[in-house]
Amino acid sequence: MSDKTKETLDKTAASRRRFLQAGLAGGAVLAGASAARAAGDPLITEIQDWNRYLGDGVDAAPYGTPSEFEAHVVRRDVPWLTADPVSSVNFTPLHELDGIITPNGLCFERHHGGTAIINPAEHRLMINGLVDTPLVFTMQDLMRFPRENRVYFLECAANSGMEWRGSQLNGCQFTHGMVHCVAYTGVPLKYLLEEAGVKTNGKWVLAEGADASAMTRSIPIEKALDDCLVAFKMNGEALRPEQGYPVRLVVPGWEGNMWVKWLRRLEVGDEPWAQREETSKYTDLLENGKARRHTWQMEVKSVITSPSPQAPITHGRGPTVISGLAWSGGGRIKRVDVSLDGGRNWQEARVDGPSLPKALHRFYYDFNWDGSELMLQSRAVDEDGYIQPTKNELRAARGMNSIYHNNGIQTWYVKADGVVENVEVS
Ligand code: MTE
Ligand code: CO
Repeated sequence: MSDKTKETLDKTAASRRRFLQAGLAGGAVLAGASAARAAGDPLITEIQDWNRYLGDGVDAAPYGTPSEFEAHVVRRDVPWLTADPVSSVNFTPLHELDGIITPNGLCFERHHGGTAIINPAEHRLMINGLVDTPLVFTMQDLMRFPRENRVYFLECAANSGMEWRGSQLNGCQFTHGMVHCVAYTGVPLKYLLEEAGVKTNGKWVLAEGADASAMTRSIPIEKALDDCLVAFKMNGEALRPEQGYPVRLVVPGWEGNMWVKWLRRLEVGDEPWAQREETSKYTDLLENGKARRHTWQMEVKSVITSPSPQAPITHGRGPTVISGLAWSGGGRIKRVDVSLDGGRNWQEARVDGPSLPKALHRFYYDFNWDGSELMLQSRAVDEDGYIQPTKNELRAARGMNSIYHNNGIQTWYVKADGVVENVEVS
Protein backbone atom coordinates (compact mmCIF):
# COMPACT_ATOMS: atom_id res chain seq x y z
CA MET A 1 0.00 0.00 0.00
CA SER A 2 1.40 3.43 -0.92
CA ASP A 3 1.91 6.04 1.78
CA LYS A 4 -0.69 8.18 0.05
CA THR A 5 -3.31 5.40 0.13
CA LYS A 6 -2.52 4.66 3.75
CA GLU A 7 -2.82 8.33 4.64
CA THR A 8 -6.24 8.51 2.93
CA LEU A 9 -7.44 5.36 4.69
CA ASP A 10 -6.25 6.69 8.05
CA LYS A 11 -8.07 9.94 7.44
CA THR A 12 -11.25 8.15 6.39
CA ALA A 13 -11.08 5.94 9.48
CA ALA A 14 -10.55 8.95 11.75
CA SER A 15 -13.45 10.76 10.17
CA ARG A 16 -15.68 7.66 10.41
CA ARG A 17 -14.78 7.28 14.09
CA ARG A 18 -15.74 10.90 14.64
CA PHE A 19 -19.02 10.31 12.82
CA LEU A 20 -19.81 7.16 14.77
CA GLN A 21 -19.06 8.93 18.04
CA ALA A 22 -21.38 11.69 16.87
CA GLY A 23 -23.91 9.02 15.95
CA LEU A 24 -23.85 7.53 19.45
CA ALA A 25 -24.89 10.86 20.89
CA GLY A 26 -27.33 11.76 18.13
CA GLY A 27 -28.41 8.20 17.33
CA ALA A 28 -31.26 8.18 19.79
CA VAL A 29 -32.87 11.11 18.00
CA LEU A 30 -32.50 9.51 14.58
CA ALA A 31 -33.75 6.07 15.68
CA GLY A 32 -36.65 7.61 17.61
CA ALA A 33 -37.80 9.57 14.60
CA SER A 34 -37.80 6.58 12.25
CA ALA A 35 -39.55 4.29 14.78
CA ALA A 36 -42.38 6.80 15.22
CA ARG A 37 -42.83 7.00 11.48
CA ALA A 38 -42.77 3.26 10.90
CA ALA A 39 -45.69 2.87 13.31
CA GLY A 40 -48.31 4.84 11.42
CA ASP A 41 -46.73 6.53 8.43
CA PRO A 42 -49.10 6.22 5.42
CA LEU A 43 -46.03 6.29 3.17
CA ILE A 44 -45.20 2.94 4.71
CA THR A 45 -48.66 1.50 5.34
CA GLU A 46 -50.50 2.53 2.15
CA ILE A 47 -49.85 1.79 -1.50
CA GLN A 48 -48.85 4.93 -3.36
CA ASP A 49 -49.74 5.94 -6.95
CA TRP A 50 -46.21 5.38 -8.20
CA ASN A 51 -46.49 1.83 -6.97
CA ARG A 52 -50.03 1.25 -8.27
CA TYR A 53 -49.81 2.54 -11.87
CA LEU A 54 -47.41 1.85 -14.69
CA GLY A 55 -44.98 4.64 -15.48
CA ASP A 56 -44.00 6.18 -18.84
CA GLY A 57 -42.41 3.92 -21.41
CA VAL A 58 -38.75 4.05 -22.37
CA ASP A 59 -38.94 6.74 -25.04
CA ALA A 60 -41.05 9.31 -23.16
CA ALA A 61 -37.98 11.57 -22.88
CA PRO A 62 -35.45 10.80 -25.63
CA TYR A 63 -33.07 13.26 -23.97
CA GLY A 64 -33.37 12.86 -20.20
CA THR A 65 -33.95 15.73 -17.82
CA PRO A 66 -33.80 15.89 -14.00
CA SER A 67 -36.75 14.87 -11.83
CA GLU A 68 -39.52 17.47 -11.53
CA PHE A 69 -38.73 17.53 -7.81
CA GLU A 70 -35.32 19.00 -8.62
CA ALA A 71 -36.74 21.97 -10.53
CA HIS A 72 -35.19 24.40 -8.04
CA VAL A 73 -31.68 23.23 -8.95
CA VAL A 74 -30.89 25.83 -11.60
CA ARG A 75 -28.37 28.48 -12.56
CA ARG A 76 -29.38 31.88 -11.25
CA ASP A 77 -28.31 35.41 -12.04
CA VAL A 78 -28.26 38.56 -9.93
CA PRO A 79 -30.20 41.04 -12.09
CA TRP A 80 -28.71 44.22 -10.59
CA LEU A 81 -25.13 43.10 -11.22
CA THR A 82 -25.08 43.89 -14.94
CA ALA A 83 -26.95 46.25 -17.25
CA ASP A 84 -27.99 43.63 -19.78
CA PRO A 85 -28.24 39.80 -19.82
CA VAL A 86 -26.22 39.46 -23.05
CA SER A 87 -23.14 40.74 -21.26
CA SER A 88 -23.67 39.09 -17.94
CA VAL A 89 -23.20 36.05 -15.75
CA ASN A 90 -25.27 33.43 -13.99
CA PHE A 91 -24.08 31.12 -11.24
CA THR A 92 -23.64 27.37 -10.67
CA PRO A 93 -25.92 26.10 -7.84
CA LEU A 94 -22.97 24.74 -5.84
CA HIS A 95 -25.10 24.25 -2.70
CA GLU A 96 -27.19 21.58 -4.50
CA LEU A 97 -24.35 19.58 -6.03
CA ASP A 98 -22.02 16.88 -4.80
CA GLY A 99 -18.91 15.15 -6.05
CA ILE A 100 -16.54 17.04 -8.33
CA ILE A 101 -18.25 17.12 -11.75
CA THR A 102 -20.65 19.91 -12.70
CA PRO A 103 -23.59 18.68 -14.80
CA ASN A 104 -23.63 20.33 -18.23
CA GLY A 105 -26.93 22.14 -17.74
CA LEU A 106 -25.74 23.73 -14.50
CA CYS A 107 -22.35 25.14 -15.57
CA PHE A 108 -22.41 28.89 -14.93
CA GLU A 109 -22.44 31.06 -18.05
CA ARG A 110 -20.43 34.18 -18.69
CA HIS A 111 -20.96 35.90 -22.01
CA HIS A 112 -19.79 39.27 -23.26
CA GLY A 113 -22.06 39.28 -26.31
CA GLY A 114 -24.67 36.57 -25.75
CA THR A 115 -24.55 32.90 -26.78
CA ALA A 116 -23.42 32.40 -30.38
CA ILE A 117 -25.40 29.74 -32.24
CA ILE A 118 -23.05 28.09 -34.73
CA ASN A 119 -23.67 25.22 -37.13
CA PRO A 120 -20.56 23.03 -36.76
CA ALA A 121 -20.54 22.40 -40.51
CA GLU A 122 -20.00 26.15 -40.97
CA HIS A 123 -17.43 26.62 -38.23
CA ARG A 124 -13.77 27.23 -39.08
CA LEU A 125 -10.71 27.52 -36.85
CA MET A 126 -7.81 29.47 -38.33
CA ILE A 127 -4.16 29.58 -37.26
CA ASN A 128 -2.22 32.53 -38.65
CA GLY A 129 0.57 34.96 -37.74
CA LEU A 130 4.12 33.80 -37.06
CA VAL A 131 3.70 30.27 -38.44
CA ASP A 132 5.29 28.44 -41.36
CA THR A 133 1.90 27.47 -42.84
CA PRO A 134 -1.31 29.34 -41.97
CA LEU A 135 -4.06 26.75 -41.60
CA VAL A 136 -7.85 26.59 -41.51
CA PHE A 137 -9.50 23.61 -39.82
CA THR A 138 -13.07 22.40 -40.17
CA MET A 139 -14.60 20.54 -37.22
CA GLN A 140 -14.03 17.34 -39.18
CA ASP A 141 -10.33 18.18 -39.51
CA LEU A 142 -10.06 18.68 -35.73
CA MET A 143 -11.66 15.28 -35.10
CA ARG A 144 -8.74 13.61 -36.92
CA PHE A 145 -6.09 14.72 -34.43
CA PRO A 146 -5.34 12.49 -31.42
CA ARG A 147 -7.63 13.37 -28.51
CA GLU A 148 -7.23 13.52 -24.76
CA ASN A 149 -9.66 13.46 -21.85
CA ARG A 150 -9.00 15.75 -18.87
CA VAL A 151 -11.01 17.01 -15.91
CA TYR A 152 -10.48 20.70 -15.09
CA PHE A 153 -12.17 23.45 -13.13
CA LEU A 154 -12.90 26.76 -14.83
CA GLU A 155 -13.16 29.75 -12.50
CA CYS A 156 -13.96 33.27 -13.66
CA ALA A 157 -11.40 35.73 -12.31
CA ALA A 158 -14.38 37.76 -11.02
CA ASN A 159 -15.67 34.88 -8.86
CA SER A 160 -16.18 36.24 -5.28
CA GLY A 161 -15.32 39.71 -6.64
CA MET A 162 -18.43 41.23 -5.07
CA GLU A 163 -17.15 40.07 -1.66
CA TRP A 164 -13.85 41.96 -1.82
CA ARG A 165 -14.87 44.78 0.53
CA GLY A 166 -17.09 42.67 2.81
CA SER A 167 -19.79 40.03 2.75
CA GLN A 168 -22.52 40.87 0.29
CA LEU A 169 -24.39 38.04 -1.47
CA ASN A 170 -26.31 35.51 0.57
CA GLY A 171 -25.46 32.13 -0.88
CA CYS A 172 -22.42 30.21 -2.14
CA GLN A 173 -24.16 30.04 -5.53
CA PHE A 174 -23.61 33.80 -5.78
CA THR A 175 -20.38 34.24 -3.80
CA HIS A 176 -18.55 31.27 -5.37
CA GLY A 177 -20.71 29.97 -8.25
CA MET A 178 -18.56 31.26 -11.12
CA VAL A 179 -16.77 27.93 -11.15
CA HIS A 180 -17.49 24.60 -12.78
CA CYS A 181 -15.58 21.36 -13.27
CA VAL A 182 -15.98 19.33 -16.42
CA ALA A 183 -14.40 16.31 -18.12
CA TYR A 184 -13.25 17.66 -21.50
CA THR A 185 -12.42 15.78 -24.66
CA GLY A 186 -10.23 17.70 -27.03
CA VAL A 187 -7.07 17.99 -29.10
CA PRO A 188 -3.95 19.33 -27.38
CA LEU A 189 -3.39 22.84 -28.75
CA LYS A 190 0.23 21.84 -29.16
CA TYR A 191 -0.64 19.43 -32.01
CA LEU A 192 -2.42 22.17 -33.99
CA LEU A 193 0.41 24.67 -33.46
CA GLU A 194 2.95 22.04 -34.48
CA GLU A 195 0.95 21.34 -37.63
CA ALA A 196 1.20 25.04 -38.55
CA GLY A 197 4.84 25.30 -37.41
CA VAL A 198 5.46 28.12 -34.92
CA LYS A 199 8.32 30.40 -36.02
CA THR A 200 11.16 30.93 -33.52
CA ASN A 201 9.97 34.47 -32.69
CA GLY A 202 6.43 33.20 -32.01
CA LYS A 203 6.10 33.80 -28.26
CA TRP A 204 2.39 34.51 -27.80
CA VAL A 205 -0.92 33.18 -29.08
CA LEU A 206 -4.01 35.35 -29.48
CA ALA A 207 -7.20 33.30 -29.06
CA GLU A 208 -10.32 34.80 -30.63
CA GLY A 209 -13.99 33.85 -30.31
CA ALA A 210 -16.58 33.81 -33.10
CA ASP A 211 -19.31 35.36 -30.91
CA ALA A 212 -20.59 38.94 -31.21
CA SER A 213 -17.99 40.08 -28.63
CA ALA A 214 -15.16 38.44 -30.64
CA MET A 215 -13.42 37.96 -27.31
CA THR A 216 -9.65 37.93 -27.54
CA ARG A 217 -6.89 37.06 -25.08
CA SER A 218 -3.10 36.77 -25.30
CA ILE A 219 -1.65 33.49 -24.03
CA PRO A 220 2.10 32.84 -23.62
CA ILE A 221 3.40 30.16 -25.98
CA GLU A 222 4.76 28.07 -23.08
CA LYS A 223 1.22 27.58 -21.76
CA ALA A 224 -0.20 27.01 -25.26
CA LEU A 225 2.33 24.21 -25.80
CA ASP A 226 1.87 22.79 -22.31
CA ASP A 227 -1.62 21.63 -21.28
CA CYS A 228 -4.14 23.69 -23.30
CA LEU A 229 -6.85 21.78 -25.17
CA VAL A 230 -9.09 22.65 -28.09
CA ALA A 231 -12.17 20.93 -26.68
CA PHE A 232 -15.37 19.84 -28.38
CA LYS A 233 -16.92 17.54 -25.76
CA MET A 234 -17.89 18.17 -22.14
CA ASN A 235 -18.78 15.32 -19.80
CA GLY A 236 -18.94 13.04 -22.82
CA GLU A 237 -21.35 14.98 -25.02
CA ALA A 238 -21.00 17.94 -27.37
CA LEU A 239 -20.25 21.27 -25.69
CA ARG A 240 -23.40 23.16 -24.78
CA PRO A 241 -23.99 26.32 -26.87
CA GLU A 242 -23.50 28.40 -23.70
CA GLN A 243 -20.09 26.81 -23.19
CA GLY A 244 -18.83 27.53 -26.71
CA TYR A 245 -20.29 24.91 -29.08
CA PRO A 246 -18.79 23.65 -31.27
CA VAL A 247 -15.30 24.29 -29.87
CA ARG A 248 -13.64 26.15 -27.00
CA LEU A 249 -10.17 26.66 -25.61
CA VAL A 250 -9.32 24.99 -22.29
CA VAL A 251 -6.56 26.76 -20.35
CA PRO A 252 -6.14 24.59 -17.22
CA GLY A 253 -5.74 26.39 -13.89
CA TRP A 254 -5.88 29.85 -15.49
CA GLU A 255 -8.63 32.45 -15.27
CA GLY A 256 -11.85 31.61 -17.10
CA ASN A 257 -11.67 34.66 -19.34
CA MET A 258 -8.80 33.03 -21.27
CA TRP A 259 -10.90 29.94 -22.08
CA VAL A 260 -12.18 31.45 -25.33
CA LYS A 261 -15.51 29.97 -26.40
CA TRP A 262 -16.68 29.51 -30.02
CA LEU A 263 -12.93 29.51 -30.82
CA ARG A 264 -12.35 30.67 -34.41
CA ARG A 265 -8.79 31.99 -34.61
CA LEU A 266 -5.36 31.53 -33.08
CA GLU A 267 -2.79 34.09 -34.10
CA VAL A 268 0.86 33.57 -33.21
CA GLY A 269 2.77 36.76 -32.39
CA ASP A 270 5.93 38.01 -30.69
CA GLU A 271 4.30 40.04 -27.90
CA PRO A 272 0.96 40.29 -26.09
CA TRP A 273 -1.77 42.23 -27.88
CA ALA A 274 -3.11 44.38 -24.99
CA GLN A 275 -6.75 43.63 -25.76
CA ARG A 276 -9.60 45.08 -23.71
CA GLU A 277 -9.91 41.90 -21.64
CA GLU A 278 -6.29 42.11 -20.50
CA THR A 279 -5.99 45.86 -19.86
CA SER A 280 -9.12 47.65 -18.64
CA LYS A 281 -10.57 44.32 -17.44
CA TYR A 282 -9.04 41.26 -15.75
CA THR A 283 -6.18 43.27 -14.26
CA ASP A 284 -5.80 43.84 -10.51
CA LEU A 285 -5.98 47.42 -9.29
CA LEU A 286 -3.66 47.75 -6.30
CA GLU A 287 -3.73 50.13 -3.34
CA ASN A 288 -1.15 52.47 -4.90
CA GLY A 289 -3.36 52.96 -7.96
CA LYS A 290 -1.21 50.77 -10.21
CA ALA A 291 -2.75 47.76 -11.91
CA ARG A 292 -1.15 44.35 -11.99
CA ARG A 293 -1.33 42.72 -15.43
CA HIS A 294 -1.35 39.08 -16.38
CA THR A 295 -2.57 37.42 -13.19
CA TRP A 296 -3.35 34.22 -14.99
CA GLN A 297 -3.33 31.45 -12.40
CA MET A 298 -6.31 30.91 -10.11
CA GLU A 299 -4.86 30.44 -6.63
CA VAL A 300 -5.83 27.91 -3.98
CA LYS A 301 -9.42 28.37 -2.77
CA SER A 302 -12.26 26.55 -1.03
CA VAL A 303 -15.82 27.06 0.16
CA ILE A 304 -18.30 25.13 2.28
CA THR A 305 -21.28 24.48 0.00
CA SER A 306 -23.53 22.91 2.65
CA PRO A 307 -24.55 24.16 5.10
CA SER A 308 -24.64 27.61 3.48
CA PRO A 309 -27.29 30.35 3.22
CA GLN A 310 -29.29 28.50 0.55
CA ALA A 311 -28.75 25.14 2.30
CA PRO A 312 -29.59 25.68 5.98
CA ILE A 313 -29.49 22.87 8.56
CA THR A 314 -33.06 21.65 8.79
CA HIS A 315 -32.58 18.42 10.76
CA GLY A 316 -31.67 19.91 14.13
CA ARG A 317 -28.80 18.86 16.34
CA GLY A 318 -26.97 15.55 15.96
CA PRO A 319 -24.94 13.99 13.13
CA THR A 320 -24.27 16.65 10.50
CA VAL A 321 -22.37 16.54 7.24
CA ILE A 322 -20.39 19.59 6.21
CA SER A 323 -19.56 19.42 2.51
CA GLY A 324 -17.48 21.70 0.33
CA LEU A 325 -15.21 22.26 -2.65
CA ALA A 326 -11.53 23.12 -2.91
CA TRP A 327 -9.38 23.82 -5.95
CA SER A 328 -6.08 25.30 -7.09
CA GLY A 329 -4.74 26.39 -10.46
CA GLY A 330 -1.36 25.17 -9.18
CA GLY A 331 -2.35 21.49 -9.18
CA ARG A 332 -3.85 19.13 -6.61
CA ILE A 333 -5.30 20.00 -3.22
CA LYS A 334 -3.15 18.56 -0.45
CA ARG A 335 -5.39 19.25 2.51
CA VAL A 336 -8.53 21.08 3.60
CA ASP A 337 -9.20 22.23 7.17
CA VAL A 338 -12.57 23.20 8.59
CA SER A 339 -13.21 25.59 11.48
CA LEU A 340 -16.47 25.72 13.43
CA ASP A 341 -15.46 28.81 15.39
CA GLY A 342 -14.40 31.42 12.86
CA GLY A 343 -10.80 30.27 12.44
CA ARG A 344 -9.71 29.81 16.07
CA ASN A 345 -9.51 26.02 15.85
CA TRP A 346 -9.09 23.88 12.75
CA GLN A 347 -9.78 20.21 12.04
CA GLU A 348 -8.71 18.32 8.96
CA ALA A 349 -11.53 17.54 6.54
CA ARG A 350 -11.77 14.35 4.49
CA VAL A 351 -11.18 14.80 0.76
CA ASP A 352 -13.23 12.20 -1.09
CA GLY A 353 -13.33 11.22 -4.73
CA PRO A 354 -10.69 11.75 -7.40
CA SER A 355 -7.89 14.17 -6.58
CA LEU A 356 -6.96 15.49 -10.02
CA PRO A 357 -4.64 18.41 -10.78
CA LYS A 358 -6.45 21.69 -11.53
CA ALA A 359 -9.83 20.08 -10.82
CA LEU A 360 -12.39 20.60 -8.08
CA HIS A 361 -11.88 18.47 -4.97
CA ARG A 362 -14.80 17.43 -2.72
CA PHE A 363 -14.31 17.51 1.04
CA TYR A 364 -16.47 16.46 3.98
CA TYR A 365 -16.39 17.06 7.70
CA ASP A 366 -18.76 14.80 9.61
CA PHE A 367 -19.53 15.99 13.14
CA ASN A 368 -22.10 16.03 15.87
CA TRP A 369 -23.78 19.44 15.97
CA ASP A 370 -24.85 20.39 19.49
CA GLY A 371 -27.19 23.09 18.19
CA SER A 372 -24.95 26.00 19.15
CA GLU A 373 -24.04 28.83 16.80
CA LEU A 374 -21.19 28.16 14.38
CA MET A 375 -18.81 30.31 12.35
CA LEU A 376 -17.98 27.88 9.57
CA GLN A 377 -14.83 28.31 7.52
CA SER A 378 -12.74 26.14 5.23
CA ARG A 379 -9.09 26.62 4.32
CA ALA A 380 -7.36 24.71 1.54
CA VAL A 381 -3.67 23.99 0.98
CA ASP A 382 -2.40 22.94 -2.45
CA GLU A 383 0.44 20.60 -3.38
CA ASP A 384 2.83 23.53 -3.74
CA GLY A 385 2.13 24.34 -0.08
CA TYR A 386 0.13 27.50 -0.82
CA ILE A 387 -2.39 28.18 1.96
CA GLN A 388 -5.68 29.91 1.23
CA PRO A 389 -5.43 33.42 2.78
CA THR A 390 -7.91 35.25 4.98
CA LYS A 391 -9.67 38.16 3.34
CA ASN A 392 -7.68 40.57 5.50
CA GLU A 393 -4.40 39.03 4.36
CA LEU A 394 -5.54 39.55 0.77
CA ARG A 395 -6.53 43.16 1.39
CA ALA A 396 -3.23 43.85 3.16
CA ALA A 397 -1.43 42.78 -0.02
CA ARG A 398 -3.75 44.32 -2.62
CA GLY A 399 -5.75 47.09 -0.98
CA MET A 400 -9.49 47.72 -1.26
CA ASN A 401 -9.84 48.41 -5.00
CA SER A 402 -9.45 44.90 -6.37
CA ILE A 403 -12.24 42.78 -7.81
CA TYR A 404 -10.57 39.80 -9.46
CA HIS A 405 -8.77 36.84 -7.90
CA ASN A 406 -10.46 36.87 -4.50
CA ASN A 407 -9.54 33.51 -2.97
CA GLY A 408 -10.06 34.62 0.64
CA ILE A 409 -11.54 32.40 3.34
CA GLN A 410 -15.36 32.50 3.45
CA THR A 411 -17.34 32.50 6.72
CA TRP A 412 -20.90 31.19 7.15
CA TYR A 413 -22.70 32.06 10.38
CA VAL A 414 -24.95 29.15 11.40
CA LYS A 415 -27.60 30.18 13.91
CA ALA A 416 -29.14 27.90 16.52
CA ASP A 417 -32.19 27.31 14.32
CA GLY A 418 -29.95 26.18 11.45
CA VAL A 419 -30.41 29.33 9.34
CA VAL A 420 -27.13 30.37 7.68
CA GLU A 421 -25.86 33.85 6.78
CA ASN A 422 -22.89 35.23 4.87
CA VAL A 423 -20.64 37.12 7.30
CA GLU A 424 -16.99 38.10 7.55
CA VAL A 425 -14.57 37.29 10.33
CA SER A 426 -11.34 39.10 9.59
N1 MTE B 1 -15.30 33.44 -24.89
C1 MTE B 1 -16.02 34.19 -25.73
N2 MTE B 1 -15.86 34.00 -27.04
N3 MTE B 1 -16.90 35.13 -25.30
C2 MTE B 1 -17.08 35.35 -23.94
O1 MTE B 1 -17.88 36.21 -23.58
N4 MTE B 1 -16.36 34.77 -21.63
C3 MTE B 1 -15.17 34.36 -20.90
C4 MTE B 1 -14.72 32.95 -21.30
N5 MTE B 1 -14.69 32.82 -22.73
C5 MTE B 1 -16.31 34.59 -23.02
C6 MTE B 1 -15.44 33.61 -23.55
C7 MTE B 1 -15.29 34.39 -19.45
S1 MTE B 1 -15.07 35.89 -18.66
C8 MTE B 1 -15.40 33.25 -18.72
S2 MTE B 1 -15.34 33.29 -17.02
C9 MTE B 1 -15.60 31.94 -19.35
O2 MTE B 1 -15.62 32.02 -20.77
C10 MTE B 1 -16.92 31.36 -18.89
O3 MTE B 1 -17.13 30.10 -19.44
P1 MTE B 1 -18.54 29.39 -19.30
O4 MTE B 1 -19.59 30.35 -19.83
O5 MTE B 1 -18.43 28.12 -20.02
O6 MTE B 1 -18.77 29.17 -17.81
CO1 CO C 1 -14.90 35.41 -16.54
